[in-house]
Amino acid sequence: MTALPIEWTLRPRQPAEKVHEAVSCILPLERTRQVRRFHQQIPAYRMSPLKGLTHLASRLGLGGIWVKDESARMHVQSFKVLGGSYAIYRVALKYLGLDGQDIPFKELTAGPLREKLEGLTFAAATDGNHGRGVAWSALQMGLNSVIYVHRLTSLARIQNIQANGARVVVVDGNYDDAVRQVNEDARREGWQVISDTSWPGYEDIPRWVMQGYTTLLSEAQEQLAAQGLTRPTHIFVQAGVGSLAASAIGYYANLFGEDRPVSVVVEPDKAACLYASATAPDGQIQTVTGDLDTIMAGLACGVPNPQAWQLLSATADVFARCPDYVAALGMRVYGVPLLGDPQVISGESGAVTLGMLMMIMARPEGRELREALGLGPDSQVLLINTEGNTSPDEFRQVVWEGSMPLPPEYKLQLLP
Ligand SMILES: Cc1ncc(COP(=O)(O)O)c(C=O)c1O
Repeated sequence: MTALPIEWTLRPRQPAEKVHEAVSCILPLERTRQVRRFHQQIPAYRMSPLKGLTHLASRLGLGGIWVKDESARMHVQSFKVLGGSYAIYRVALKYLGLDGQDIPFKELTAGPLREKLEGLTFAAATDGNHGRGVAWSALQMGLNSVIYVHRLTSLARIQNIQANGARVVVVDGNYDDAVRQVNEDARREGWQVISDTSWPGYEDIPRWVMQGYTTLLSEAQEQLAAQGLTRPTHIFVQAGVGSLAASAIGYYANLFGEDRPVSVVVEPDKAACLYASATAPDGQIQTVTGDLDTIMAGLACGVPNPQAWQLLSATADVFARCPDYVAALGMRVYGVPLLGDPQVISGESGAVTLGMLMMIMARPEGRELREALGLGPDSQVLLINTEGNTSPDEFRQVVWEGSMPLPPEYKLQLLP
């Protein structure tokens, strides 16, 4: 039998005190409510839909598949804006000497407080989506932004950032080089860096970014409750630097402790820095270098966010990595669903978790992982479609032209 094209490692569950310690310093429970209240004040805020792929779930032998669909979030097609906007709000309050106070967002967009923010410039390095979210959030306050991208960033992604009023700087290197460059330039220019990854001495802002993501999870919990479900049994989350995964898994660890959903962190095999860290014999955080050449642009990160790693190493159950064609499979299945299931428009990074779930459930080689995860007819699996069609040329290459086909030896075997 061919092997599953997914490499994975299962981690033993840690003692409750260790989990609590890792989660509470980054995601204090009451913060989720404050963050959601902040987002609700943004005029473009709407709850994103939770879509049930009922027919697909039954053909895969699962109880349910629930997709939190972030493809239309605040007009920028990705969940990332939730983190960038909350971090910018907190940075602005700190700049005004009002950190920790509950100031309505609209007071930062007009009037005397806004006046005092004049001249502030926000900067970020991005693979596309984070920078677009930061640029959009700065624009809501009428402030400037400068966004650094790496040389493999598609033109469409660059244009989407520019459309939000940002200046874009292209760095000759990969995402991690863009992170280094923006910091150097920001120090010189006096810009406020809004990074979704942390380093020693720069921890508040990435923590606010992670806290910002919890809005999508608290919405999902509300939506699941409306379906009569207290919680998902499983959650698959895609990872670049790992901030979203830490936020999602940490959120559930906070709410349910030992009874939290079984979690899987999913990465592209060309940029699997968290998988490398999880399998490192010395247990230390690992870096992946090179071009990080994957179609999953949002996940092309070689250096984990140390804060996220700290949380994930205490809470995540499985770390897994897979080839690009697994993401392409997910994009096509989302785009052309089984009759009766809703359509989901999902870009490369958004779709990889569905592709992986399908490979695990619809291939005999998936059995060992399926059993390790306890996936079956009673499972209610939560997935996050983290982006829409954010790079249309690449999207069409996969969905229309059939690039990255599933190798014939992995033909899917669905239940009748
Ligand atoms: C669409 C999409 N999904 C997932 C991620 C992963 O988020 P993180 O870098 O926090 O792991 C990103 C990051 O940019 C992204 O753009």
